[in-house]
Amino acid sequence: MSGPADPGVLRSTAGSGDGAPPDPSPVEIATPNVVLGSAPQGRADALVLFGATGDLSRRKLFPSLYQLASRDDFDLPIVGVARSTWNDDAFRDHAVQAVEAAVDQPDPKVLHHLVDHLHLVTGDYADPGLFSTLRDYLGTLGARLPVHYLAIPPSMFETVVTSLANVGLNGNSRLVVEKPFGRDLLSAKELNSVLHRYFNEDQIFRIDHYLGKEPVENLLVFRFANTFLEPVWNRNYVESVQITMAESIDVEGRGAFYDSVGCLRDVVQNHLLQVVALLAMEPPVGNQSRFLTDEKLKVFSAMRSLDPSKVVRGQYDGYLDEPGVAPGSGVETYVAAQFEIDSWRWAGVPFNVRAGKALPYNATEAVVSLRQPPAMLFDEAGPPWPATNLIRFRLGSNDGVTMTVNAKEPGRELDTQPVDLSVDFAKALGERWDAYARLLDDALDGNHRRFGRYDVVEETWRVVQPALDNPRPAQRYTRGTWGPEVASGLVGSVGWLTPTPPG
Ligand code: BG6
Repeated sequence: MSGPADPGVLRSTAGSGDGAPPDPSPVEIATPNVVLGSAPQGRADALVLFGATGDLSRRKLFPSLYQLASRDDFDLPIVGVARSTWNDDAFRDHAVQAVEAAVDQPDPKVLHHLVDHLHLVTGDYADPGLFSTLRDYLGTLGARLPVHYLAIPPSMFETVVTSLANVGLNGNSRLVVEKPFGRDLLSAKELNSVLHRYFNEDQIFRIDHYLGKEPVENLLVFRFANTFLEPVWNRNYVESVQITMAESIDVEGRGAFYDSVGCLRDVVQNHLLQVVALLAMEPPVGNQSRFLTDEKLKVFSAMRSLDPSKVVRGQYDGYLDEPGVAPGSGVETYVAAQFEIDSWRWAGVPFNVRAGKALPYNATEAVVSLRQPPAMLFDEAGPPWPATNLIRFRLGSNDGVTMTVNAKEPGRELDTQPVDLSVDFAKALGERWDAYARLLDDALDGNHRRFGRYDVVEETWRVVQPALDNPRPAQRYTRGTWGPEVASGLVGSVGWLTPTPPG
């Protein structure tokens, strides 16, 4: 294996292998390019994009890089790595098309600025020569602290991280890995131990793009930056919590991928459990990443493993005709599940979560229902008695908060009528960055706050594992409905609350 173009530029720091804090004093070891050292500090000076011609890069990463490039101080070389036979120009055209497809009237100056920073290195991931070429190329760019972004199928992770380490590129660098992080508890552990062979925990950034969404992060701010919620935010006042992630799209040609995953793994184990954690956690003692993550870990540690009898799986009619779906597949495109957190704050409060494809419209919403107030004052008017107060966090495209409160109905009686107090964040707060732009920016900065720490990821797999091991048959449902009827049995007389339709 050839040495680096400039051995002083890119040096390797092998991980301790167990996620333990890195040794603060760098120590040279036998292999010429390998140094044990502390986690890299400071802003990265290159982004290496594995899977640069793939779907995720096209849909999410290039549009997000465009947002980063709109900053005056943007000066980041982006080295795409792909199996294609494209040259730099073809790659740049591809990036322009990706941005134009996603961004309304992109600024040509910003687009040029972005494109000027794009480079492509091509080859087969299984070929060690590709990685020496990459290392040398980064050397010519003067990169001292690259971020390696693995936007590639998880089956390729081991090959790529091993090859990065073989040429010393695991050293003063960061590694971003896309979800899914494993497909169950065991494979998550295995994947983690592969990554930790070459990278310290401090170098690893596990993506869950929900953590990059402003309205999701707002759950934390809304809860802990306002005084009025805290006294009622517990089992004494909260009756139940419901979270819905509805998508009107079906698997959209991704049948082969989706059929190996299913809804529980695709969006519940990660995105929606993160929403549960933000709703349920205790106030972190500070905004450093570890304080936030420690509180999430406590939520999941107190969460009971899913009882398979409290999980309803569904499959939309026509799923079996999707290209790539196995004949007779029992994979779910809908799931509803009841999570329980056995803590002093939450014991006895059901967290009912549902998600599905081919539902009536797109909406992601978390609704906290408070207990019914006493009704005697309103007896004379008869039912409906005061409605349950609802606090709805809209987490999708029409993000905001709606609180349903009771007001006096005009007339002679002391009758009540629910009314909504609502705020639309886009109107009130202005435009926000896309989740992936924020996550890329954080990874470049080395900020872990919006990424998954391994112990938390492992607890979430522990929670869902019984439902993966003992799946109930998937019930058919008609496209454009709210999923199988039988899911209403999970929530009892309250029923599933219809989420706010997109504006
Ligand atoms: C992804 C899932 O993680 O999240 C997709 O793999 C899903 O199946 C997507 O459609 C939804 O993300 P968003 O940001 O549109 O809510």
